[in-house]
Amino acid sequence: MVDDDNSELEARLPDQDYYRPPPEFVGQANVSDPAIYDRFEDFPEGFEEYAELLEWESRWDEVLDDSNPPFYEWFVDGELNASYNCIDRHLDERKNQTALLWEGEDGEQRNITYQDLYREVNKMAAALEDAGVEEDDVVTLHLPMLPALPITMLACARIGAPHSEVFAGFSAQALADRIDDAGSDVVVTADGYYRRGDLLNHKEKADEACELAEKDVDKVLVWERHEGELHPDAELEEGRDVLVSELLANNERTRVDPVTRDAEDPLFLMYTSGTTGKPKGCQHRTGGYLAYATGTSKYVLDIKPEDTYWCAADIGWITGHTYIVYGPLSLGTTSVMFEGAPDHPHKSRIWEIAEKYDVDIFHTSPTAVRQFMKWGEEYLEGYDFDFRHMTTVGEPIQPEAWNWYYEHIGDSDAVIVDTWWQTETGGHLITNLPALDDMKPGSAGKPAPGIQPAIYDDRGDEIEPASGRAGNLVIERPWPGMLQTVYGDDDRFIDEYWRDFSETDSDDPEDWVYKTGDGAVHAQDGYFRILGRLDDVMNVAGHRLGTMELESAVSEVEEVAEAAVVSRNDPEKGEVPDVYVTLREGVDPGGIEDKIVAAVERDIGKFARPNAIVIVDDLPKTRSGKIMRRLLENISNDDDLGDTTTLRDPSVPERIRDQLQD
Ligand code: WT7
Repeated sequence: MVDDDNSELEARLPDQDYYRPPPEFVGQANVSDPAIYDRFEDFPEGFEEYAELLEWESRWDEVLDDSNPPFYEWFVDGELNASYNCIDRHLDERKNQTALLWEGEDGEQRNITYQDLYREVNKMAAALEDAGVEEDDVVTLHLPMLPALPITMLACARIGAPHSEVFAGFSAQALADRIDDAGSDVVVTADGYYRRGDLLNHKEKADEACELAEKDVDKVLVWERHEGELHPDAELEEGRDVLVSELLANNERTRVDPVTRDAEDPLFLMYTSGTTGKPKGCQHRTGGYLAYATGTSKYVLDIKPEDTYWCAADIGWITGHTYIVYGPLSLGTTSVMFEGAPDHPHKSRIWEIAEKYDVDIFHTSPTAVRQFMKWGEEYLEGYDFDFRHMTTVGEPIQPEAWNWYYEHIGDSDAVIVDTWWQTETGGHLITNLPALDDMKPGSAGKPAPGIQPAIYDDRGDEIEPASGRAGNLVIERPWPGMLQTVYGDDDRFIDEYWRDFSETDSDDPEDWVYKTGDGAVHAQDGYFRILGRLDDVMNVAGHRLGTMELESAVSEVEEVAEAAVVSRNDPEKGEVPDVYVTLREGVDPGGIEDKIVAAVERDIGKFARPNAIVIVDDLPKTRSGKIMRRLLENISNDDDLGDTTTLRDPSVPERIRDQLQD
């Protein structure tokens, strides 16, 4: 539901100024002719411009088949291979150019040229085939930020096996759930990686996941963080576990031809949180996704092959898939990746890397910007770098943070684009084109070329464009980067994204409207300002987390009778989860907090740890017994409680508030 009262959000986003892109930027930009917007209004043909950036084995017959909405098909009958497009096609011109610049937390450095990448991806593709992986098998990856991750993704793409990378911070249980859902026979992991100075034993999570999963995993392939030196605590299970280094050494094959994939064949799955406890496997297609990733990398991120481009995200999330791996490599540029934390061994690590590699384009999240801001400008001192272009993604950015980013990181002469999109959308949907549109702090900006967003009220009626009124952000036309379906669950795909605002018994694509789950305002200047999620999904440090997933983890603690999780606004992370619980009759409340934290870490991962755990006598409930999370959210955020007369016991919220103030 749209919150009627957006006054608080309005207050957080005061007067917005515009900033012009610097003329030097405009002069060199990949797109500087506003005619692009008109070209893409020729729908769907406009999107051919993105597809033309790829090399196809056979060209498509039709741009869009929309005869069976919402199961759209893009670049129908086109054939291509994503690994070929990200590697092989660059070899003639730039085989000695660096494709991936990797820096380990311990200072180790790897400079992987396109030729090296070609060699390594071919060998890994052969290794996957040796492990029994066949075309269309989904391979689950649980890899941290090591070169092994993009190499394995591209090796999967080469043999037509969709990859499903599970962010390394996810727990064994979360990995097991995703292995089961994807039905993977083969899992690829690493023995360990560095995080704040420790060489973590990462392999143990895959071991435990294999125990927890219902699926019998045939093979676990293990990359070593230090080749030839397996993590001292990592154990290998005979018959199941194989070191990638051994597979590579024992294989004579150094070439695996890229298989021909239909444009509609899936390229990968990426699981994301929804409003139920079960994560959704967003299934992305090969042709449309790669075209959209490449096109937006070129037009929005302004990437050129000679650039050094750094998206400081983790490849374990969609941002890294699209804007560290597929988009940048498809354009033949140099993409930077790093292991570990931005503040280890010191808080200048990011700027040290920026200077060392002479980074031109820098991509990060508002959470990171707020952190840099909190650490202070002194950590920038003495570092010599010059970004031409910067972006943010993942959450709304407050003008204050935007201004700091612009001034201190961008030296007031870089362009900034605030890019709105989702795991489901494959690439940016609302963002300015950097040379064409003025920057407006706090606003994501205009729709990307060819994209048609709108604001609907809760009844499903369109709110007049540019009205400045808050409502549900929807997308009225399909686009090539969109998910194909929820893996194995077409009904859920329709229920989650389409049912609310579409006429689902119609086969006219005009009647189908994609629900984003976000609230937004379309301002008079045509810019969209994103207000945040309207459903039970939180955005913690730019990562999506479902309330229900957290609640079901908390409810596993035996002593807990009922649990409600709500989001608290946090000056650093955007939102953080607060947990309210009632306990079973007669149990000892001692140590409950630790048990709850342990349950969340076990079921989801450390990154989802609650901010506060509040043990209460009673939760606010309606007369029919429904927990009113909204009131708890008001309590967490110190907001007015509003109308409490519909509660079974109207005194409950005040009692909780008093308890918190004690
Ligand atoms: C949700 C998607 C795809 C990038 C990483 C997150 C929020 C994303 C912005 C932005 C305001 C944003 C939305 C969206 N979001 N970008 N520029 N301004 N909010 O991917 O985990 O799929 O989350 O992140 O709420 O729905 P994700």
